[in-house]
Amino acid sequence: MLIDTDVNVSWGMTLDGPDLYAAAQLLDESEQRRAAAIRNDHTQRRFVSAHAMLRILVAKQIDWQPEQLTFGVRSRYGKPELVYPPIRVHFNIATAGDRVVCAVTETGPVGVDVESHEVIAEADRAGGVEQVLLTPAEREVLHEFPDRASALTRWWVRKEAMLKASGEGLAIEPPTLEMSAPDETPQLLGWQGRPVPPVWISDLDVGPGYEAAVVVLT
Ligand SMILES: CC(C)(COP(=O)(O)OP(=O)(O)OC[C@H]1O[C@@H](n2cnc3c(N)ncnc32)[C@H](O)[C@@H]1OP(=O)(O)O)[C@@H](O)C(=O)NCCC(=O)NCCS
Repeated sequence: MLIDTDVNVSWGMTLDGPDLYAAAQLLDESEQRRAAAIRNDHTQRRFVSAHAMLRILVAKQIDWQPEQLTFGVRSRYGKPELVYPPIRVHFNIATAGDRVVCAVTETGPVGVDVESHEVIAEADRAGGVEQVLLTPAEREVLHEFPDRASALTRWWVRKEAMLKASGEGLAIEPPTLEMSAPDETPQLLGWQGRPVPPVWISDLDVGPGYEAAVVVLT
């Protein structure tokens, strides 16, 4: 789906059978090695699905062949970049449950995240999600949401997508970000110790039981 003039987002389910086989043919040696090291069958298939989707989307964006791309990591917190061909393109992938999401753009650094209500609800029952995710002001309005799990999950994916766009990931604590409430238009309202960067944020509909979001640093 083209969700904005220049951000391409794709989402899908973990592949199986002939589709999975075809996806695996697109991966390079390094990705195949990483896939082979994953013991859980579903997680391994999801990894292959995500990396094939990424190759297809990036290749389409830069008019190249999916199997001819080389990715690498040069940044401190591990955000992957396109190494070959030397074309400036931004991308990010996320996986959760049986969902795979990928975003590609030439506008600026992009982050995407997806999470299931079930996982966040379980973590919430165990305790501590509120504290690791929300600012004191956000925690004050949490009780207003009748579906606590979906509210927490939406806050979660918006914040994690923001931190994946910046490339720092969860090396930065999510409560340092002040995000608009889950029922409001997504907006970064504050960032403790930093000026709020110019960003474009959108929620993504990836089907029932999940929340997803994409953030582009403009
Ligand atoms: C980025 C991060 C939030 C991913 O969390 P997750 O919920 O496990 O995974 P997601 O499905 O959302 O995203 C995974 C993808 O994000 C990408 N990614 C990895 N590091 C990233 C980063 N720092 N910023 C943005 N994206 C990143 C990768 O493509 C990864 O997929 P892959 O492992 O199959 O290549 C987490 O790994 C993190 O916080 N990393 C940075 C913190 C750190 O210091 N890590 C040490 C590694 S050097």
